[in-house]
Amino acid sequence: MGLFKRLFGICETKPPLDDACWDFSEGKVEIDLERASELTNPGGAIRLEGKGLPEKVLVVNGNDGSLHAFHNKCTHGGRRIDPLAQTENIRCCSVSKSTFDYSGQLISGPAKGPLKAYKLETENGKATISID
Ligand code: FES
Repeated sequence: MGLFKRLFGICETKPPLDDACWDFSEGKVEIDLERASELTNPGGAIRLEGKGLPEKVLVVNGNDGSLHAFHNKCTHGGRRIDPLAQTENIRCCSVSKSTFDYSGQLISGPAKGPLKAYKLETENGKATISID
């Protein structure tokens, strides 16, 4: 990621190409994994916003072979987060680059604390994320 993007906090992760692949109701995000092509391979990710979601959400197909979901707001200055290629970490898109592990624990950077990691379950081609 270039300096220009970091200065303005522009993240690499995009909303899903198929916006109908996910929905939010009664405190849960449900993702149809067959339609969320970005999550097919490790390192892939989508960001979810709108549809009544109370918080921005980042969903990552981790390099550990599992899906993970996080509050997409750095605990330093509130910038969005991206997966960090070739690692099992995620990193803030700002200049300061706070970095977290998949449990949300801070590894490095000026962030004030851990990142919220949501409970995520998969079943029958669907991922369900509990937003609490
Ligand atoms: S906003 Fe994330 S490190 Fe500053």
